[in-house]
Amino acid sequence: MTEPLIKGLSRRDFLKWCSATAVMLGLSKSYVPQIAAAVEAASAKPPVLWIQAQACTGCAISVINSESPSAANLVLDILSFRFQPNISAATGDVAIKAINDTIENEKGKYVLVFEGAIPDKEDGLYSMFGEEDGKPITALDWLTKAGDNAAAIVATGACACWGGIPRANAEVTGAKGISFTGTSKGGAYAGGTPVVNISGCPPNPDWLIGTIVYYLTFNKLPDLDDFGRPKAFYGQTIHDNCYRRAAFEAGLFLEKWGDPSAISPAEGGTASQDYCLIKKGCKGPVTYADCPIRRWNSRTSWPIGGHGICIGCTQPEFYQDLAPLYEKVPTVNVFGIETTADTIGKVLGVATAVGVGAHLIGNLVTGRVSSKKEGE
Ligand code: SF4
Ligand code: SF4
Ligand code: F3S
Repeated sequence: MTEPLIKGLSRRDFLKWCSATAVMLGLSKSYVPQIAAAVEAASAKPPVLWIQAQACTGCAISVINSESPSAANLVLDILSFRFQPNISAATGDVAIKAINDTIENEKGKYVLVFEGAIPDKEDGLYSMFGEEDGKPITALDWLTKAGDNAAAIVATGACACWGGIPRANAEVTGAKGISFTGTSKGGAYAGGTPVVNISGCPPNPDWLIGTIVYYLTFNKLPDLDDFGRPKAFYGQTIHDNCYRRAAFEAGLFLEKWGDPSAISPAEGGTASQDYCLIKKGCKGPVTYADCPIRRWNSRTSWPIGGHGICIGCTQPEFYQDLAPLYEKVPTVNVFGIETTADTIGKVLGVATAVGVGAHLIGNLVTGRVSSKKEGE
């Protein structure tokens, strides 16, 4: 009997997985054989080194919770993890040796997955592990050394990409992301290795695994947006695909949490549909990710589907510049127009009251049409 390519998966299921991966990456089905060949080839299994800095480990847990492929498939059959702090048995000197061996012996071949922000205050001592010549090795030292020798750096999670939660009030530790600390300032990595940002707090496992599989298949990073994120996963706003969009356009906004008159019967309420959450602080209009389509936890649900707001966790501004999370965003981009949530709320309120169609709301927001009744 033929040995399954990925343990526990038949050839048929393996090809189904490759097909799902192609879809996940926005590729046509004609790429399935290429993906299968790349994953099959033992020599193509890229060594992966995973280093953590100022992190809560949520990103690692998110990826380890992946169901398809499972964590075991991921670790044993698809990728060649040389060190991962949460699942590797190695600790202490053995762990440091495993990291250094990968850096030295797999120069230019391994993918560095970096989780967590990098602090630079107090010589970087707020995040360190291991020592060399009696001196502690800081997260910045590891990023520089492991990053310079890697084929690519995958900044995993908001903390690694832009500083995330540790960057809030960062004057204490000087927390930074790898390549950006937000929209305008420089990041912690100054070397020349290409960096891809897999943002999110945490990121969806598909975003990380899909990006690594793409790299494995094509030997290059996928197309990236202006913030270094793969367009295949971060190409549209949450608002573009949200199932509450019809409520938004109809001017139906939740004002009070738990109000049954703003919740659909499926959820125990009396409303015709679940109302839009923009007035409760939803950042969906300014947040780029495919959560409404991909969903989470084996595709069961996602933040807004679970009756919470989108907190904008994939954006460079997260966390500090989007907080307080449960208050309306100061500016939002709706219909390609930058404006404030208050203006939208006011305009939509007027528009709804006078029966203005959604297609005119953009013009109302910019003042191209007055807020009188349509046709007046
Ligand atoms: Fe934790 Fe979020 Fe930072 Fe990941 S991005 S380490 S989940 S705080
Ligand atoms: Fe959905 Fe939020 Fe957009 Fe409302 S504002 S439609 S809840 S993404
Ligand atoms: Fe994050 Fe918003 Fe998705 S909070 S998980 S980008 S719905």
